[in-house]
Amino acid sequence: MRIAILGTGHLAEALGACWVRAGHQVTLAGRTPEKAAALARRLGGPTRSETAREAVRDANAVLLAVPWDAVGAVVEAAGGAGGSLAGIPIIDPTNPVGHGVGVVLNPPGLSNADRIAGAAPGGRVVKGFHLVPSTQWGSADAATTVLLCGDEPAALQVAETLVRDAGAVPVVVGTLARARQLEEAAGLFIALAFAGVDPRTVAPALPPVRP
Ligand SMILES: NC(=O)c1ccc[n+]([C@@H]2O[C@H](COP(=O)([O-])OP(=O)(O)OC[C@H]3O[C@@H](n4cnc5c(N)ncnc54)[C@H](OP(=O)(O)O)[C@@H]3O)[C@@H](O)[C@H]2O)c1
Repeated sequence: MRIAILGTGHLAEALGACWVRAGHQVTLAGRTPEKAAALARRLGGPTRSETAREAVRDANAVLLAVPWDAVGAVVEAAGGAGGSLAGIPIIDPTNPVGHGVGVVLNPPGLSNADRIAGAAPGGRVVKGFHLVPSTQWGSADAATTVLLCGDEPAALQVAETLVRDAGAVPVVVGTLARARQLEEAAGLFIALAFAGVDPRTVAPALPPVRP
């Protein structure tokens, strides 16, 4: 798969490394081209760095690995307003929450995934990867589950493949209307972690119900 990663920070490096290992062609783009070039060298293989607009051209998937409030600018830089992302699965791993306190910062009812969908006409937005710390990728913890939601079955299938290729298990929880809930969940877990509570200890011990 040709994967464009927009952003060159912790998450870009962690997931990029997994996907390069899985044999994907990763292209990086960042607002600081030197960082994109340096990360491409670190990831190795056929990894390249390009402008955002070039990176998304012919991409099979795009990961928006930037702060939640930068998605509009980054989609714009990729030509998203003009339709460059139409038909492409856009994976949104952003956590639009206050650092440490975990309060969701978008207006009620609005998810960051909605904002991305609004900025990129025709883009097939999938929320996901936002609940897993970047340090966990590559640690071969087969128990990691990645929650996904989106409106387009084909885009969800692409995201599920990328979850598996990063060594985790995908679970689709519904349409993009669930994205706000997934973002609220991240805020709660982050708040608990910063309060010194392991979020795993508050999860209810509900037995899985198989359909
Ligand atoms: N790190 C994690 O454990 C983790 C886990 C799950 C989800 N996430 C989410 O993933 C996203 C990226 O997180 P990260 O930890 O990789 O962040 P990071 O290490 O701080 O990297 C952020 C990247 O975004 C770029 N950037 C920042 N502001 C920008 C702007 N206004 N316009 C364009 N580019 C901008 C930075 O460019 P420069 O380097 O040039 O400043 C950098 O390439 C965030 O939304 C975060 O909530 C992170």
